[in-house]
Amino acid sequence: MEWLRSTKWIIRQEIVWDRMIAANIRGWRFWQVDERIYWLYKPKDGHIIGKELKSKHALLTSIWRFPPENNNPHPAPFPLSLPTRAIYSIMDEKKGGIIIDPYCGSGTTLLAAKVLGHHYIGIDVSHDYVGYAKKRLDDYKKEIPAVKKEILKHIVKKTFKDRKEKGEFVGRYRKANTNKGGKTLSLFDYLGGETENK
Ligand SMILES: C[S@@+](CC[C@H](N)C(=O)[O-])C[C@H]1O[C@@H](n2cnc3c(N)ncnc32)[C@H](O)[C@@H]1O
Repeated sequence: MEWLRSTKWIIRQEIVWDRMIAANIRGWRFWQVDERIYWLYKPKDGHIIGKELKSKHALLTSIWRFPPENNNPHPAPFPLSLPTRAIYSIMDEKKGGIIIDPYCGSGTTLLAAKVLGHHYIGIDVSHDYVGYAKKRLDDYKKEIPAVKKEILKHIVKKTFKDRKEKGEFVGRYRKANTNKGGKTLSLFDYLGGETENK
C-alpha cells in the first residue's frame, strides 16, 4: 500500500476471492478462505475510474467464489475461472491484447489469455513451473470448456428496468425485495442460472 500511494495508480476495486477451502486443521481462528484481488487503474484521459463495464460483466459481484484447481502440481494455482473472469470482463470480446503475469506459476493466467485470444508473457523464478506452464499452453484446447463455463456466467437475463417493472429486486432494503412468505430476498435469488453464488 505504501508503494501504491507513491504511484499514480488507484485501487479501482477490491475483490474477495472466496476459495472455499483452507489448509487449517486446528482452530485458534476461523478458517481463512478469502484472498484479495486488487484491480488497479492509472487515471487516463480524464477517466478517474476507467471505462464502464458491460452489464453482463458488472452483474457479477465483488465476491468471486470458486475453489482452487486440484489437478495441478503447483502448490497454489488459481482456478482457470479467476483469470478468465478478470480478462474477459475487461477485454470483453476484443482479442489481441497483451496479458502479463510476472508470477505465472503453472501458467493459469496465460492459459486463460490464450483461450480468450490474447498474447501473453509469463515470468516465474522456477524453471519447473515455467516448463509446466509451457506444457499446459501446448495442450490449451482441453481447457476450452472450462473457459466457456466461466463465460456463460456473464449474461444479463433481466435489466434493472425489467426487474423494477416486475417489482423484483431493485435495492436490498426496499419492500419489493421480499417473496410471498415475507422472506427478504437478495440479489442472488434473482440472478439464477449459472452463477456460482446460488
Ligand atoms: C501463488 S504462485 C502463482 C500461481 C499461479 N497463479 C498459478 O495459477 O499457477 C506464485 C509464483 O511466484 C513465483 N515467484 C516467487 N518469487 C518470484 C520472483 N521473485 N520472481 C518471479 N517469480 C516468483 C513462485 O515460483 C510461484 O510459482
